[in-house]
Amino acid sequence: MAEYATLEIEGKKYKFPIITGSEGEKGIDISALRRQTGYITLDTGYGNTGSCKSSITFMDGEKGILRYRGIPVEQLAEYSTFTETSYLLLNGKLPTRNELNKFSVMLNDLSLVHEDMQTFFQNFPRASHPMGILSSMVNALRSFYPELKDEDDDIEKTMPRLLAKIRTMAAMAFKISRGYKVVYPRPDLSYCANFLNMMFDSPVKPYEVDPDVVKALNAFWILHADHEQNCSTSAVRVVGSGRVNLYAAVSAGMAALWGPLHGGANQAVIEMLNDIHKSGTKLKKVIERAKDKNDPFRLMGFGHRVYKTYDPRAKIMKKMVDNYFAKNKLEDPLLNLAKELEEVALTDEYFISRNLYPNVDFYSGTFLRAINIPTNMFTVMFAIGRLPGWISQWKESIDDPDWKISRPRQIYTGPTEQQFVLIDERE
Ligand code: ACO
Repeated sequence: MAEYATLEIEGKKYKFPIITGSEGEKGIDISALRRQTGYITLDTGYGNTGSCKSSITFMDGEKGILRYRGIPVEQLAEYSTFTETSYLLLNGKLPTRNELNKFSVMLNDLSLVHEDMQTFFQNFPRASHPMGILSSMVNALRSFYPELKDEDDDIEKTMPRLLAKIRTMAAMAFKISRGYKVVYPRPDLSYCANFLNMMFDSPVKPYEVDPDVVKALNAFWILHADHEQNCSTSAVRVVGSGRVNLYAAVSAGMAALWGPLHGGANQAVIEMLNDIHKSGTKLKKVIERAKDKNDPFRLMGFGHRVYKTYDPRAKIMKKMVDNYFAKNKLEDPLLNLAKELEEVALTDEYFISRNLYPNVDFYSGTFLRAINIPTNMFTVMFAIGRLPGWISQWKESIDDPDWKISRPRQIYTGPTEQQFVLIDERE
């Protein structure tokens, strides 16, 4: 039986259908609201607005659940690889061995980037942030495929092409920013091992693939692979809704991810921990600053729009970091500091009453430091991980029969009509 929500405005009643998701989530379909009532909704930051129906990722912020295509992220991080999880996100099902082999071979075959791209990279100023370089280069990549029509790309090839090339471009950005020789992808290496080799192999010190690092990096990227309608994914969908090509839409997502309140938080956390460590500031003082509404300082890596309990990704990341450090007998004062800070924050009434817990970015930087990724590459590492999610969400929106260009409305609060005054007559 159809369910409806009733809205009463100025004494008149209107009915709007209630829609229910496969996990029992409820929403009110207000598509006809303005047409029927003349009213719009106001929801700054979209905290209560569903922008689409999606079958890719399910999260429950109250229970701390995250699943890709129905599979818990805990199981994927434990048993899957990033390549397999990417296939799952893109295709909606786990691959057979044969399908996975074909997909992996395709990723390797497509991993080289055009030699001319090196010229672009070389011309960025040395101090450029790798996120700025990467988002520009992803957009520029489209220019190398002039045979494609914007609205009808050879999408089945474009998706793996982007997945394959992003790690080459990310490693290239790192090498060139250091003035080192670029290392080419190797067809015999898996996705993660190939990336590590392109980052760390050098003529003076050949890189030896460490299976522990490869396993941990796979899990790191799986944890970042999708997160439903977050800021950067919404950017990809909004920009893509104008029917722009995939490269441009993903480049927009990368720009959104760069922000310190979003994916840029992994860099901001380590910078914050470094500052605290170097200055020797007492943790109580740090917490006081985070609580002070007159101080712009926030506890980076804490809080989340959807999770009102411990972020399941942060839980796995913390365990993974602990295992990795123990196995490799590593010590990092910033990891110890992060744990102390978490303990102080989680017993503070301010954080308890607002349900502020560590998010995925709180511990991820300590792992990336441990595997020698430079701090300014942290958000790039997040971006590589999020790419299958962005592509899947973009594809879903393009195929959506209910698709519409994204175009929110507003409540105007500026001046009412006034007349133009000639410059010499102005007061
Ligand atoms: N430190 C101190 N106070 C915080 C923090 C924090 N990290 N996060 C939220 N709060 C407070 C807010 O000041 C607000 O307090 P109030 O109710 O007294 O006004 C309350 O908690 C609710 O926070 P909002 O900002 O309304 O929550 P919102 O959902 O809009 O923001 C966000 C979520 C942006 C993640 C926020 O928690 C934040 O800035 N965290 C730090 C940055 C960060 O770690 N970002 C990464 C998020 S995960 C990701 O994107 C991959």
